[in-house]
Order: sequence, then structure tokens, then C-alpha cells
Amino acid sequence: MSSNTVSLNDAEHSAQLPLVEGTLGPACIDIAELYKDTGHFTYDPGFAATAACKSAITYIDGDKGVLLYRGYPIEQLAEKSSFLEVAYLLLEGELPGAAQFGAFEDQVTHHTMMHEAVKNFLHGFHYDAHPMAMLCASIASLSAFYHDTNDNGDPAQRKLAAIRLIAKMPTLAAAAYRYSIGWPIRYPRNNLEYVTRFLHMLFEVPSEPLNLNPVAAKALDLLFILHADHEQNASTSTVRMVGSTGANPYASVAAGIAALWGPAHGGANEAVLKMLAEIGDAKNVDKAVARAKDKDSGFRLMGFGHRVYKNFDPRAKIIREMTHKVLGELGVSDPLLDVALKLEEAALKDDYFISHKLYPNVDFYSGIIYKALKIPTSMFTVMFAIARTAGWIAHWIEQHETRDARIGRPRQVYTGAVQRDYVGMEKR
Ligand code: CMC
Repeated sequence: MSSNTVSLNDAEHSAQLPLVEGTLGPACIDIAELYKDTGHFTYDPGFAATAACKSAITYIDGDKGVLLYRGYPIEQLAEKSSFLEVAYLLLEGELPGAAQFGAFEDQVTHHTMMHEAVKNFLHGFHYDAHPMAMLCASIASLSAFYHDTNDNGDPAQRKLAAIRLIAKMPTLAAAAYRYSIGWPIRYPRNNLEYVTRFLHMLFEVPSEPLNLNPVAAKALDLLFILHADHEQNASTSTVRMVGSTGANPYASVAAGIAALWGPAHGGANEAVLKMLAEIGDAKNVDKAVARAKDKDSGFRLMGFGHRVYKNFDPRAKIIREMTHKVLGELGVSDPLLDVALKLEEAALKDDYFISHKLYPNVDFYSGIIYKALKIPTSMFTVMFAIARTAGWIAHWIEQHETRDARIGRPRQVYTGAVQRDYVGMEKR
């Protein structure tokens, strides 16, 4: 075996598999020719050991708790940057100069409005529809409005789609929420910056001005930075899978929203709050931990564990520090925070959680902050979707700039019936 190949042998075949090196992280074994050389496929349910693409956007080292966007550590971006600057960074690969950022912000601001017909479309939903359902459907519906600029092969049209999605996502998200509570939809106020504008669309009523605490906008901006991208997570992989078929960017991102919704992924922030409310009191925490360890209970501690982070989630560390600050500055005392802290303490010293390397993840704390900002629980995953749009569309664009990109088409281990002959109904 030479140093840049791995050999794989069975009784009949021998294959030399090349190693693919990135700039950081372990080398990957290139198995593209494996079937041709050996007649075997590989089996990796959940893609735990499979790189599906090359990407230059985000790097994670799960053992060391490292998260880099375009090379920049998340801790530095969280402290010094803004969500919109991070969105630019993810899309363009470099931090913007003042003029570049000004132009980007102008473009995003220019595209915040939604077509009035989308409003009618939202009004077709049942009054108690979940905002994620409305967001997913309305983002998919954008493809019906922009089909004249949906040429995936044109870099300018791809960029326009990215700007539209980043700009309109908060408008649609706020509209979905307001419809669900019977408030009139609030149009974007383009004299405000991105996050403040969103909070106004969410909370401002026509009858009185909104006195927004700047701490709320700052906290939300930070959460958006932390959620903006996370390399090949389930929803981003979904966006890429759908994108690989040549589907338009709005349909691809709508698929990402659907994937994000699940409680094992972005839906966990909503599930954490529900779980904390069910536990109800710090004195019930030990019982909840015992239940989570019992496989027959079917109960997991929401907000614990991560496919990639096995020592700590760097985003959770940042949010944890921020949670107390935000609650203090907003003057919120929340009994659920006591439950959360007790749960965190109990799980961190429990043998099961230690041996399974289960630590609080980003979603464990984000819900507590959203709650302090008076964002309703049903909107938690929507908040995640607004932020992750920057990452989804950066990946979608990167995929379309990759020359050797192919349609995503996994193989399977077939376990069904072997070939048999059709039997007429009268003989069954
Ligand atoms: N509570 C109790 N046990 C758990 C938990 C949990 N939260 N998570 C994993 N385990 C156990 C699991 O039962 C299994 O045990 P064993 O090996 O003894 O059978 C072991 O840990 C490995 O679990 P897994 O399901 O194979 O791990 P995974 O990498 O496939 O799943 C996960 C990762 C995040 C889906 C999972 O940890 C989980 O369901 N966590 C709760 C949901 C959650 O907080 N999701 C948000 C993830 S972070 C943000 C995001 O991605 O959107």
C-alpha cells in the first residue's frame, strides 16, 4: 500500500483506493471505483463515516469542539461579527470590506418584500397551522414567482436567489407567525437593520410603537451567527441532494426546511422547551435522567448529544454564557432555567451520559433565550431556519460551481423478497 492509497482485498479482488486530502481533517478513502473494482458497495447508514462532497465553507472538528466558517473560529465571529456579515462570508468566502458589505446589505434590504399573492397564499392555511409548515410551503411557492430567473447555470441568477432567500425568509417567517395568532401582517421597515427589522415584523402592532430592547436584537443576531451553517448536517445535505437533481433554489431550500423541522435536528429547540415544561420542577430532574437512560422508555433528553461533537458543542458553550447575561439584562427570571441548569448538572455527572459522550448541544440553551425574548415556542425552529438559510444557499451555490457534481443517488442493501412470479388473485 502506498501512503496515499488504501488497499482492500477479498478472496477474489484487490483494490487500491486513493485517499482524498482536504486542508483540515482526516483523509477520506475514495470509493467511487470500488464497485467496478470489487463488485461491492459500502454500507454506512446515517452517513456517519461518508463524505458526500468536497466543501470549502465550514469545518468541524467534533473531538476538539472546533467550528470554523471559511476558516474563522465561531468564537471570534460570535464576538466581533454580525449575522449579515457572516452570511456574506459564507456566500463569498471572504469577509467583506465596508463598500462590499454596504452593497450586500442594500441588496438584501431591497428584496425584503414579498409578493402580495404570497400573503393570500398564507391566508389559505388553517388558523392553527404550525409556522414551520407555512414557512416550508411559502418558500417552495417562491419558485412559482421567480421562474423567469431560475436558471441554475447562471451565476448572477444563483446570487439573486441567495439574496432573495436571505431577505425574504424573515418576512415570510414573521407573516406565518402573525397569521397564526390573527395579527395583520407587518411589512418590512427597510430603515432598520436585518435582525431588528425582523423583530419589528414579528412583534409590532399597528396601534402602538414597539419599544425594542437592543439586548434582544443583539442576542438574536448572535444566535443567528451560531446557527448560520454547520457543514453537511441533515438539512444542508437535503438541500444538496435536492439541488443535485437540478431543482430550483427555492424548492431545494424548502426541502431543507422540512428536514430541519424534525426533533432530532432543528426541531430539538422546540422539543427542549416542551421537555423542560413537562419536567416542570428541578426536583423531578433525576427521574427524567433515569427515564432517558432506559431504552424501553423511548425518551431522550432533548438538547443532548450530537452526531459530530463528542466532547462539547462550541456553540452551546457560547450560548450558555450568554443565557445568564440575556436573562439578567432583560430582567427575566424563568423557573424553566432552574430545571435546565439542574438537568445539565445531573446529566454531566451521570455515567451513562459521560460514557455515551452526550453533552448539551446548541439547542439546549437557544430555546431558553428565545423564550426570554418572548418568541413563541412554535417559532423556535423557524428562527433556526432563518439563520441556516445563509448556509443552505451557500452550499447550494457551491454545489452548482462544482464541475464534477453528480446527482445524489445512494445504494442500498436489499433485504426484501427474492424474485418470484405473480399469482392471480383467485389463487392467493
Ligand atoms: N438522550 C439519551 N440517550 C441518547 C441521547 C439523548 N439525547 N442521544 C443519544 N443517546 C444514546 C443513544 O440511545 C445511543 O445509545 P446506545 O449506543 O447505548 O444504543 C447512543 O447515545 C448514540 O445515539 P445515536 O442516536 O446513535 O447518535 P446519533 O449520532 O445518531 O444521533 C442525535 C445524534 C443528536 C440525533 C441524538 O443525540 C439525539 O437524538 N439527541 C436529542 C435531539 C437533539 O438534541 N438534537 C439536536 C442536535 S444539535 C442541533 C441540530 O443538529 O439541529
